[in-house]
Order: sequence, then C-alpha cells, then structure tokens
Amino acid sequence: MTVEPGTRVLKANEEAIKAVAACLAAGGLVAFPTETVYGLGADARHGEAVARLYAAKGRPSFNPLIAHVADAEAARGLARFDAAADKLAAAFWPGPLTLVLPKRPDCGVADLALAGLDSGAVRVTAHQIAPALRAAFNGPVVAPSANRSGHVSPTSAAHVLADLRGRIDMVIDAGPCAVGVESTIVACLGEPSLLRPGGLPREAIERVLGQPLAIAPIADDAPLAPGMLSSHYAPKARLRLDAEAAGADEALLAFGPTPSASVTLNLSPRGDLIEAAANLFSHLRALDALGAQRIAVMKVPHEGLGEAINDRLARAAAPEAGVSK
Ligand code: TXA
Ligand code: MG
Repeated sequence: MTVEPGTRVLKANEEAIKAVAACLAAGGLVAFPTETVYGLGADARHGEAVARLYAAKGRPSFNPLIAHVADAEAARGLARFDAAADKLAAAFWPGPLTLVLPKRPDCGVADLALAGLDSGAVRVTAHQIAPALRAAFNGPVVAPSANRSGHVSPTSAAHVLADLRGRIDMVIDAGPCAVGVESTIVACLGEPSLLRPGGLPREAIERVLGQPLAIAPIADDAPLAPGMLSSHYAPKARLRLDAEAAGADEALLAFGPTPSASVTLNLSPRGDLIEAAANLFSHLRALDALGAQRIAVMKVPHEGLGEAINDRLARAAAPEAGVSK
C-alpha cells in the first residue's frame, strides 16, 4: 500500500473502524486514540508496515515498539508472564500500563518492531473505541505515540496531523485523550521494575505487588527503554522548572490557584494532578504555537501522576544533544 498524498481524518464510527481494519491489513498506517495519547498503528506481523511506521515518525530504528493486544490471553501468546505480571495484568488491564516481558520465539511480531531484543512490550488499552477496533482487526498492532520522533506526544487528532499529515494513511478523531500522558512501563524480567512513570501511578502498582518497584537504571547510550533519551519530549521553547513566577521574557505555565494576570496557561487551576496530566502536552504545544521562547513552569507535586508529569517536564527541559534551545 502506498501512502496517499493526504491523510484521511475519520470520525469514530462503525464505518471508520472497518476502513481502519482494512487499512491495517493492507500494511497501512493509522493513528487512533487511546486513553493515554494517540498511537500510530501498524500490523505488528507486517515487517514492511513496521518499517514505514519508523520512517513516518523519523524514529531511530533501534527503538522498540509496544504491541497492542486484545486482552491478557492474547498477550500470553506473545510473551511469558511471571507471577508479578499476572497480578498486574489482572488488576490494571485494560488501562494505562505497559508490561515488558520475555518474548515467545514464535510470537510472530516483526523483528524490526522488537529492535532485536529478547523482550517485548505489550499493552491492553481502555479507550471506548478499543473493543470495536480489536473486533475488526484481529491481531497485534504496534503503536508508538503518533508524533514525529522527539516531539511531545499527541493528545488530539489535530496534534497528530500537525506532525504526520501526509505521512500516514488515516487518523480516527475521537476527541482529546482522558489521561494525557503515556502509559506506565513496568518490566517483569526478574524483579519488577519501573522503566517509565506514566498514566498509572507507581503507588497503585506497588499496592498490588505488595512491594516497591525497582527503578531501572536508564543510561542515554544504552537505555533499557530507548525512548527514554533524556531530551525526548521536546517543545521548541526553553523550559525553567520549579518556578515561582515568570520573568519578564517568560511565559508562565502554572499549576494550582495563581493570579490569572501572570499566567499564560494553567495545567490545573484547582491543583488536580489528573487534570494537569491531561493538559500537559496540549499546553506545551499551545505555548510553542504562541511562539514562547522561554517557559517558566511552576512546581508540580511529585506524587501520583505528578511523577510522570515531572518526568516529562524534566525531559522537555533537557537540552537536545548537539542542539541549543
Ligand atoms: O501510552 C502509551 O504507551 C502510548 C500509546 C500510543 O500506547 N505509546 C507509547 O509508545 O508511548 P512509544 O513507542 O512512544 O513509547 C514506548 C516506550 C519506548 O520508550 C520504548 O523504547 C519502550 O517503550 N520499549 C518498548 N519495548 C521495550 C522493551 N522490550 N524493553 C524496554 N523498553 C521498551
Ligand atoms: Mg513516544
């Protein structure tokens, strides 16, 4: 299948779901909403489609992809679950949790999608269109976030189009994503460990496991979750974190009750971390669109979803390798 010059934008309905399934089966690329962020999907077993997906994102091909599956049973066909993985899948799927597990040799997922690793990432999403999509396309779909590599993740169809218009076949528009930050990634390859804080708070995972999660050491040159390069989530503006107020040349990204005259955008005027996560990427994009050169970001509490928000803010503030911002 060749990419059409334009990207079709489809409202989420029965006909759209059928068109998406046919497109995936033909090796096409389709962006669709999940509860966390919009994903860019391709048939996980179709090596050429996976290659096109990397090309569309401009993603380094060593970066492995998450396979979206229908349920825990389908995931068991791709990867081996230990006791911790069993507990987590039972407690949190469908939901914003990705598990990294030993892959089965016969899993059928294209080698390129796994970037040559012995492990694979699997996830069962909770979005309202997910069951219909899964019924229409029967098989694993690899889906990284539907942004150009190095940009912030999209939480609306408009964000997807801003990055990928003309590079992908279609996008399903079902409005903004409820969670707004990517899934939490936990590796169950021994002691369960947190590879990426995300939409499922660490505390909830630790309660189910009855033990603290190890934090996987992530180094930029040999990262276990390669998407965790320190400057991965990058708006164009330079960010100053933990600010109390904006300087003369800065836009203010606020959190909590703040005198409105000083605020450019507020992640959550009432200080709610769930609302702040849902607004994070769209506010960063909006500040870029306003042409802000410098953004002062107020402190966000480091609990619950605050861990994922602070992680993304720290990456957004990190200078890109070789690029001065
Ligand atoms: O919320 C999400 O997880 C979204 C939605 C679309 O599902 N997807 C997403 O995918 O954030 P992506 O590709 O942008 O981030 C997936 C992360 C990357 O950092 C990747 O390196 C890591 O998962 N990953 C995938 N397979 C891995 C593996 N076998 N071992 C370690 N990290 C892995
Ligand atoms: Mg991503």
